[in-house]
Amino acid sequence: MVEENNNNRASENGHLAHGAQSANAGKATPLTFYENLKSWVEAIADVMMFILCSIGFILKDLYYIAFGYPEKELNNDIALVTGGGSGLGRLLSMRLGKMGTKVIVWDINKQGIDETVKMVQEAGGYCKGYVVDISRKEEVYKAAEVLRHEVGDISLLINNAGVVSGMHLLNTPDHLIERSFNVNVMAHFWTTKAFLPKMIENQSGHIVTIASLAGHVGITKLVDYCASKFAAVGFDEALRLELEVLGHTNIQTTCVCPFFIQQTGMFDDVNARWVPTLNPNDVADRVITAIKKNEKIAIIPGYCKFLLSLKWTFPWGCVGGLLRRLVPDASPHGIAQKSLLNVYKKLSATASPATAVTSITDISSTFKEPAALTKAGTLLIKRSPSLGERVL
Ligand SMILES: NC(=O)c1ccc[n+]([C@@H]2O[C@H](COP(=O)([O-])OP(=O)(O)OC[C@H]3O[C@@H](n4cnc5c(N)ncnc54)[C@H](O)[C@@H]3O)[C@@H](O)[C@H]2O)c1
Repeated sequence: MVEENNNNRASENGHLAHGAQSANAGKATPLTFYENLKSWVEAIADVMMFILCSIGFILKDLYYIAFGYPEKELNNDIALVTGGGSGLGRLLSMRLGKMGTKVIVWDINKQGIDETVKMVQEAGGYCKGYVVDISRKEEVYKAAEVLRHEVGDISLLINNAGVVSGMHLLNTPDHLIERSFNVNVMAHFWTTKAFLPKMIENQSGHIVTIASLAGHVGITKLVDYCASKFAAVGFDEALRLELEVLGHTNIQTTCVCPFFIQQTGMFDDVNARWVPTLNPNDVADRVITAIKKNEKIAIIPGYCKFLLSLKWTFPWGCVGGLLRRLVPDASPHGIAQKSLLNVYKKLSATASPATAVTSITDISSTFKEPAALTKAGTLLIKRSPSLGERVL
């Protein structure tokens, strides 16, 4: 399985090993007059091409803004939603199910998966769930194989599962930092490597990265989370460019970067100012729209694009001050991911008082095996349906 996913290919193909350099490296030969002239002409042509393309794309966008963006149908797709056992993943699964998409849910929370599958099916949709720990690549590759045989080729991959530790860096145990990276970004490599080849073969596919605004700005108590989300944003952008360069322009990628979302359990007690925390149903509606319109990046709320542009314009003193005031405390009680905490608490209710869990720090020392989560409950979002939900 490892070989099928191209590990060690570089050495098989005879590529240079790390550090190996050609004997001529470092010896620059001066350019002739004509070579110099050619490189200048090429540079000017590149700039002209950039300006012309930019005008073309801006005009195209203005046309779409005036007359509406074309939207694709998703009713023939098979979608995989990681972390679909609760929160945003569940809401996305429900929307996709209602649109006729075949929905597959991967999560570590068995009870959460069962609830999502039941909710999608009760609404008339197709949904199947599998317990998969996406932080383990062998598990991902194995589950992908099972999926191919039992359901078919995934055409819409939504890398949604995410975790947060919510503590100052020096208080965060090493394994929680590793967990943040394994779930929030490394898993995207494994799922993409598992499903992209068939997308390329079928000349159709869409890979969605649920990142975060924390993938564009740093926030205190979220050092590991922000770093992993910055990586997820980079993963999406580099992958998109690579697919374009390789000519796979029929494979779309979308990066979703929301501000804090209410009620999913991940950041419920966040202390944020000025930018209101988001309604999860609105975020789910926005994600579906972004997928249907093949948007490259969806910043939620949209006006935060303007705030992000300030980051590169103003000195750090201004930017840091703004960020400190915007999110005074991402995890005031040091319990960022309540949904996971609730699960662990339920598990510990049956355990001896010595091992009972009261905070995420206790979790880190008490429960190290995510497999334990598969037996536990999840957080249900209870609220009246949003406009988008009623329309669907
Ligand atoms: N909640 C927010 O404020 C917020 C803001 C911006 C971005 N996001 C991102 O949105 C996504 C969804 O978050 P949410 O708010 O719905 O959180 P959530 O905690 O409700 O859902 C995350 C899901 O991922 C699952 N999961 C965790 N580890 C896993 C693993 N190893 N393998 C498989 N599944 C695993 C959990 O069981 C859970 O069902 C995450 O990537 C998150 O980082 C959330």
